Amino acid sequence: MTESVHEAAAEIVARLELRDKAALITGATFWSTHALDEHGVPELVLTDGPHGVRRQRGSADHLGIHDSLPATCFPTASATGSSWNTELLEEIGRALGAEARWHGVGVLLGPGLNIKRTPLCGRNFEYYSEDPVLSGDLAPAAVTGVQAAGVGACLKHFAANNQETNRMVVSSDVDERTLRELYLTGFERAVTASAPAAVMSSYNRINGVHAAQHPWLLTEVLREEWGFAGLVVSDWGGVPDAVASLAAGLDLEMPGNAGTPGLVVAAVESGRLAVEELDRAAAAVVAAALALGAPSDAAAAGAPLAEPDWDAHHELARRAAVESAVLLTNDGVLPLAGSGPIALVGALAAEPRYQGGGSSRVVPTRLDDLPTELARALADRPGVVRDLRVSASDDVDAALAAADGAGVVVVVLGLTEGDTEGADRTHLDLPVEQLSLLAAVRKAGHRVVAVLTNGGIVLTGQVEQHADAVLEMWLSGQAGSAALADILTGLDDPRGRLAETIPVRLTDTPAYLNFPGTEDAVLYGERLYVGYRGYDATDRDVAHAFGSGLAYTTFGYTDLEVTLPDPGTAAATVSCTVTNTGDRAGSDVVQVYLGEVAPRLDRPVRELVGFAKVRLQPGASQRVSVELGHRDFAFYDVAQGQWIVDPGAFEIAVGPSSRDLPLRATVTLEVPRIGGEITLDSPMSTWLDTPAAFEALMAELHALAKQAGMDVPDVELLRLADSMPFRKLLEMGGVTLDADRETDLLNRANA
Ligand code: GLC
Repeated sequence: MTESVHEAAAEIVARLELRDKAALITGATFWSTHALDEHGVPELVLTDGPHGVRRQRGSADHLGIHDSLPATCFPTASATGSSWNTELLEEIGRALGAEARWHGVGVLLGPGLNIKRTPLCGRNFEYYSEDPVLSGDLAPAAVTGVQAAGVGACLKHFAANNQETNRMVVSSDVDERTLRELYLTGFERAVTASAPAAVMSSYNRINGVHAAQHPWLLTEVLREEWGFAGLVVSDWGGVPDAVASLAAGLDLEMPGNAGTPGLVVAAVESGRLAVEELDRAAAAVVAAALALGAPSDAAAAGAPLAEPDWDAHHELARRAAVESAVLLTNDGVLPLAGSGPIALVGALAAEPRYQGGGSSRVVPTRLDDLPTELARALADRPGVVRDLRVSASDDVDAALAAADGAGVVVVVLGLTEGDTEGADRTHLDLPVEQLSLLAAVRKAGHRVVAVLTNGGIVLTGQVEQHADAVLEMWLSGQAGSAALADILTGLDDPRGRLAETIPVRLTDTPAYLNFPGTEDAVLYGERLYVGYRGYDATDRDVAHAFGSGLAYTTFGYTDLEVTLPDPGTAAATVSCTVTNTGDRAGSDVVQVYLGEVAPRLDRPVRELVGFAKVRLQPGASQRVSVELGHRDFAFYDVAQGQWIVDPGAFEIAVGPSSRDLPLRATVTLEVPRIGGEITLDSPMSTWLDTPAAFEALMAELHALAKQAGMDVPDVELLRLADSMPFRKLLEMGGVTLDADRETDLLNRANA
């Protein structure tokens, strides 16, 4: 929003009566704000969702149970997160924005970018990744696209909303360093890179304080540190105390609450709430309405808006599904080579799982049918047998009958429960009846392709043992069946990479012992070690690594080059060459990870700091470069309240996944050490473990011992006092250093 809108809003608010201001900061209806016709302020319509517009006319409801106007249902975020394709996310954003504007929506409530702390979270289908850099680079692309269409985007759910269990009351108890480095970084990257019109506070509490009334979160961090200048809106029904929320930095309570204006007026008149806070919130609502408020209906818009190109959006949804599909295993059975008839079995073959449940639910403009699409693709694929037999049920006998004589059997599996707002899963398994069907088809001796259609990850071990290929399609939207058919037949190829680790078993997941917490609180005991950060820290085997996925071709990585413009500055350029070493076109994602060799505080072994997706023809190569800056090297030092880069060695690793990093280089930064100065009050362990300090310590102890005619205490003896401050040790020895001597010692220790 431009400065002039903010200025106009402030002028309008300055002319309002107290009660009118208080009415502005709570919704007028379930989906809209109050208009101020006499001041030229239109209503502002806010509605879902992240992968499609859920515009309800007439009866509104919270979780999409009632129908909404038809709109394109794109693949959900756990799919598009696997695309690693920022251009695609922006393109989808533009389409979402065009459809939102057509439906009279001013703010689209998405993207959702909460970190996937545990695979059990029911809303993981709506979120991109376990990693904040991937989430924090995809989200701003989506925001930029939506806002290019003249519609506001709204990041959600801010913050640390990583489970559905007790979501409206549970306190996410998380240390500040973990909060900043893992749970806030994605939002920070999105706010600073794309200036979203809005941010939605989450239902949960954070360390005991509701997100909707958390001053540190909404004002100190979001506004003062990150410079956010948009609208802070609550989640629907997520404001326990409207007065406290205004004071903390919330601007708009949704949906409307008739009691709120009276409470706010009373609070201002009693002095419990500064009128400046109310003015700030009211101005934020007015600014958003002036900038984004839409005529209540496109037809009433004077010059009618151009109707979205629904067919083009449908094709975009298909392309998005292809970009997001992750080929987990393939012994060469894919792409189908036409070796005999194809059988397609499984109930989900006819009733695809293409989106999740709850507030993100979209009524699609159309929905592709897999048998139809597969027949179409087989017909379009020269040389492939067109004989397709379908048993669209989980009935084993019917499936075996359809499979009889088939060259390859495609079995469609997926989650028939879970993947919904309001509930978490208790396990990561596919339905028993589906696994039985798969095993029976395998036992009959057929070549098998298993297709997964799920939002949250599922354990794949029992699938892989009965299949020659496993293709993860996620919840792939209304055109997902066309995408699947094109991939199976080789008309297209799978181009996704995992944005979330698939563990071998649920009990391996880092959050396992701290989920879902109690009625009151959930402890983020695993701290920073979520997803691959956790599995790498314990060197645990995983079924499929973060960043991994196969293509219909192969790639080679060569010629790593890391340049430091100035070793005294935390910045580097990382370049390498990636080559398509196979005989088909394909996509790969070059991933750059960074790890500090000997960190001051514990840190993950390595963390994603950049990526680039490439599309290469057979034999073609591309030089890829990723720029690293201060924050890529930094950790958050809570004691000093700032992001710190220490001098020392860092390993840079480059490759196609977090567990396949063929190119490595170590660079040494000579940046000044900030904080952590050694003093006489530092523990002996610091003195003994820091080379310069150890040298200064031993020299001083020798000098003191010589003066006193005593032996120098040996290091092992000093180790016994390793948590004791050096000052205390000197006092115990009756030693006091004069000021000059202390200064000289400390200068040498901190050299
Ligand atoms: C829901 C969701 C949020 C959604 C809002 C409006 O409870 O948490 O994502 O945008 O309410 O439907």
